[in-house]
Amino acid sequence: GTKLIIDTDPGVDDAFAIALAAQSDDVELLGVTTVFGNVPIETTTRNARRILALCKRGDVPVAEGAARPLVHPHLRRAKYVHGLDGLSGRSAALPEAERPVEPGGAVRLLSRLLESSTEPVTIVPIGPLTNIATLLAARPDLHHRIARLVIMGGALTHGNSSAAAEFNVWSDPEAAHRVLTGGEVPCVLVPMDLTYRCAVDREWLDTLAASGSLGAALAALTPDYLAHYRKALGWEGMVLHDAVAVAEAIRPGILRTESLPVSVETSFGPARGATVVDRRRPEVRAETEVPDGVTSVDVAVDADLDALRAFLLE
Ligand code: BDR
Ligand code: CA
Repeated sequence: GTKLIIDTDPGVDDAFAIALAAQSDDVELLGVTTVFGNVPIETTTRNARRILALCKRGDVPVAEGAARPLVHPHLRRAKYVHGLDGLSGRSAALPEAERPVEPGGAVRLLSRLLESSTEPVTIVPIGPLTNIATLLAARPDLHHRIARLVIMGGALTHGNSSAAAEFNVWSDPEAAHRVLTGGEVPCVLVPMDLTYRCAVDREWLDTLAASGSLGAALAALTPDYLAHYRKALGWEGMVLHDAVAVAEAIRPGILRTESLPVSVETSFGPARGATVVDRRRPEVRAETEVPDGVTSVDVAVDADLDALRAFLLE
């Protein structure tokens, strides 16, 4: 199966994403690295370890990564979405992890796993891109060991953290710029426009909750998250952003992608953290000057929504 590493800031949808990878027979989950984001780094690390313990995957190593963005301070957590502890205030109900955190940090673990893997590895970054930018800058010798990055991040039409920017990119725009425009490693970008279309409803959640003890435990983490998405969607459902990216990593092609030029706004105007995706037809694009340094990445634009929801449930 596909060899996979998840870089994450749990986060309710991160918890679903980790569980999806941890339970799938089609992948070999080599490790999990954590990053600040939805909640502070100590909390994201604790949550990641507990989710793996819940999935009975104490064999998966976890290393702690960046506590803050590369350059500028982090302006806001997402406790208004995920609750104060990142898991709707329910993290204390999860089992305690036994396996200690790997010494040396996230970049060290990522490097070690890439070096020792017999095949190129898919990395799924589902938080701010700080660890991944650091890895790419520090270890150019390992770029070819990365099969692809399947990144949850970015917004084509409108954001969630701000009018223009999606949370993961907005949290560290300089890091996102480094990763998405470096052109060093193949990237799939799974933007929130698509993840919103993959939203799941109450019936989906109830089916999950009734499916067994893991499903029930995951469903129990959702009250605060549902409360946010009730407002964001206008109906009773939620958006499992990060699980959509992991689904693509496990089943390549479950999302339809288009190769499109992407740049990241890093200035301090109202669009800081925006992903500027050039969706003009290539014929039109060719007529105008595309600025130097604009790289194309595979942007997820569509999915078989019913198949995707069924896969997430399975
Ligand atoms: C992203 O932001 C976080 O709150 C979620 O976990 C997801 O990774 C969605 O914008
Ligand atoms: Ca996340």
